[in-house]
Amino acid sequence: MYSEKVFEHFRNPRNVGVIEDADGVGTVGNPVCGDLMTMYIKVKDDRIEDIKFQTFGCGAAIATSSMATELAKGKTLEEALKITKQTVADALGGLPPQKMHCSNLASDALKRAIADYLKKRGREEDLKRLGLDKLAEEEHEEHGEVCEA
Ligand code: FES
Repeated sequence: MYSEKVFEHFRNPRNVGVIEDADGVGTVGNPVCGDLMTMYIKVKDDRIEDIKFQTFGCGAAIATSSMATELAKGKTLEEALKITKQTVADALGGLPPQKMHCSNLASDALKRAIADYLKKRGREEDLKRLGLDKLAEEEHEEHGEVCEA
């Protein structure tokens, strides 16, 4: 039921780890299964220069995050925001329908990391223009929840 590409990324995930001096960090919890994902980005000239992830997710979450980081690396922030769970699933040759929620983690965490970067730089205009202003506010609240847990 999984494509060969999904297995390959699961066995050999790209860009796993932490970027200590990240420019943006995004964490999301999956409402379906409760798993967690954090993405770290380094940004130069509004382009994603480096990206890493850490997850407490399942095999599909690992494979989709690995693919999402591969797709996002080198892209501009605007291009990276167009990466959806469908883009990631397609690039992996498809995912079983009951595992599509797992690929939400990667694209949502990436969006949050970009929102975090823009917020830290005080780029309110860009946050609004890209529809990330609400996310940047939530990010703050969610971090509180994660810390208390
Ligand atoms: S089951 Fe939780 S991320 Fe896949």
